[in-house]
Amino acid sequence: MTLLSYRRRSAFGGRAMDLMFGNVVPLVLGSIGVLLLYQWLQRFRQRAYIQDAVVVITGASSGLGKECARVFHAAGARLILCGRDRTRLQELIQELKEGADIKQKTYTPCTVTFDLSDTSVVASAAEEILKCYGHVDILINNAGVSYRGTILSTNVDVHKEVMGINYFGPVALTQAILPSMVQRRSGHVAVISSVQGKIAIPFRSAYAASKHATQAYFDCLRAEVQQYGIAVSVFSPGYIRTNLSLNAVTGDGSRYGAMDKNTAKGRDPLEVAEAVLRAIGCKKKDVLLAGPLPMLAIYIRTLCPQLFFKLMASRARKEQRPKDD
Ligand SMILES: NC(=O)c1ccc[n+]([C@@H]2O[C@H](COP(=O)([O-])OP(=O)(O)OC[C@H]3O[C@@H](n4cnc5c(N)ncnc54)[C@H](OP(=O)(O)O)[C@@H]3O)[C@@H](O)[C@H]2O)c1
Repeated sequence: MTLLSYRRRSAFGGRAMDLMFGNVVPLVLGSIGVLLLYQWLQRFRQRAYIQDAVVVITGASSGLGKECARVFHAAGARLILCGRDRTRLQELIQELKEGADIKQKTYTPCTVTFDLSDTSVVASAAEEILKCYGHVDILINNAGVSYRGTILSTNVDVHKEVMGINYFGPVALTQAILPSMVQRRSGHVAVISSVQGKIAIPFRSAYAASKHATQAYFDCLRAEVQQYGIAVSVFSPGYIRTNLSLNAVTGDGSRYGAMDKNTAKGRDPLEVAEAVLRAIGCKKKDVLLAGPLPMLAIYIRTLCPQLFFKLMASRARKEQRPKDD
């Protein structure tokens, strides 16, 4: 290598280093800084949104509802816990009080007990809910029941029962709370739907139908109440490790009473509750909390329905009878 070419190369190397340290490095560091600041601001906004907020959780006595109660309580929300069993709700309150972080401002939750399937009591339950703090900031419609059965062997009353708890119950409660949110020009309504609110799988007809109806109602609600400053979030989780399948109803109305293997291998309910809190904190509208397979199934159902129908028919033939959620 001649001296000239060596000098040219080292001059080029020098210019590259100048460019690198003069422009690229500050740009990268600046972008990281902006990103971190953005994340910090997001977290700050989320925390401020939940702290002191009046949050109603239905189905708080077990599973996902119970974990939502834990995370919203820890985040400083003023909780109103709903369920059918007052004793279990009181036990949860005791647990929350004992486990509270003394450095964080927390509130002792209130309870309101009622059966969501009886829409005639929902209006008076909503009145009781509104009396607790005078208003509701966030309503989380979480309570629900699953179903196992073939359409051929399922009584229509079972469809009505599942629709009653998963659809008419949340609709009645939301409509009873909504006028006070509209009056205050603020509020947030969330609902725990399911992946089965987006795709229907065999032997889950009543459940999938109730969750599809839920998705549709809350999508309409979102559009109608945005003008009043009210946010609507629909959550569609995949399998969560709860007692959902144990509590599921069958075609003849009896309890299914078995833990499905997919549910047993599902996501930790606490992890899902934390994701719900984060998403509510940034007012996300439609949140899919599922792995790649359900996501792929949703895309196939939308983009290539014939393939989806074939896959479901083959699944139905293979299963013959209801097994997993
Ligand atoms: N687990 C999953 O794999 C999964 C997946 C997707 C979506 N989800 C949805 O997540 C939500 C929570 O279910 P989970 O998995 O936590 O099941 P879970 O442990 O069985 O909890 C269901 C909750 O709903 C309440 N509930 C049932 N029927 C009711 C009624 N008639 N009136 C009032 N409350 C009633 C139950 O309260 P009681 O104590 O009074 O029975 C219980 O607290 C449901 O909407 C479910 O569809 C679950």
